[in-house]
Amino acid sequence: MDIQAMLQRAYDYGITYIDKGVVANYIPELAKEDKTRVGGAVVDTDGSVYTVGSDQYQFSIQSIVKIIIYLCVLEHYDFDYIQKFIGVKPSAKPFNSILALELSEKNIPVNPFINAGAIVGTSLLFRKYGNNTFEMILKRTQELIGNDKIDYSRSIFNSESSSAFSNRALTYMLLNGKIISPDVNVDDLLNVYFKSCSILVNVADLAQLSFILSRDGKDSAGKQRCNAEHARILRTIMATCGTYDYSGEFAIQIGIPAKSGVGGGIVTASRAGYGIGVYCPGLDAHGNSYVGTRMLEVIAKELSLNIY
Ligand code: DON
Repeated sequence: MDIQAMLQRAYDYGITYIDKGVVANYIPELAKEDKTRVGGAVVDTDGSVYTVGSDQYQFSIQSIVKIIIYLCVLEHYDFDYIQKFIGVKPSAKPFNSILALELSEKNIPVNPFINAGAIVGTSLLFRKYGNNTFEMILKRTQELIGNDKIDYSRSIFNSESSSAFSNRALTYMLLNGKIISPDVNVDDLLNVYFKSCSILVNVADLAQLSFILSRDGKDSAGKQRCNAEHARILRTIMATCGTYDYSGEFAIQIGIPAKSGVGGGIVTASRAGYGIGVYCPGLDAHGNSYVGTRMLEVIAKELSLNIY
């Protein structure tokens, strides 16, 4: 398989959908992104990296960091204990739904990839790391991706922190439901979550993360960057919850675990050993990159990745 040519075909097909995507504007800084900017990266099974389009462009990781936050939670607490705070059920409601939290059993967020679930995950890490929680998450992100230059965007962080009304509402509901400990400072907690969402990556960084998840935690040199069982749990939740209330359609059309972010990135996972990341900031109604999803249709088909 000529991966470079395959990526180009995915790009050429994806860009025919550019008009359909809408850039996120509930975080004002994200509204400045150019929805015609498209990129993709594949790490081949031997570790070689192929890219197409805007491969150097750095965008905010947004909800893709929920994979890393939940991994850190798995690394510090037993899975059974975590279930008392965050479930693993798919959601038919949007990622920031207040109604979903209100309807959930015992006020427990249904999964770690909706905002409420990631905020609770952050609070569990905050218990252990306090004011160093963000530094720990950033360091873990750098280690997983294998890039110690990874940093966060101050402007996106400030923009989200001054506009995140639904996340504040969710956090107060979680305090009310006793899912988050009452002694936590809400601003400190949310600042960790917002900074984490503002971490800047490019498509090759996403493809490296995908590579690790797809190979039970091992990098191309055979080094274990995360536990194999944790990688398996993350792939499973990506398959069932990674593209939110679009996860069913995504499973039918693409057929691989994936996690999207409103910054426009999508990271995937498979058992075939490739790493794949795509980017375009125009989103569908569920918060998933429109062009990115279409590119993944081609990539998954041509690399025969569909797991169903
Ligand atoms: O909390 C938020 O709303 C954003 N920082 C992240 C949401 C997000 O990326 C949803 N993904 N598609």
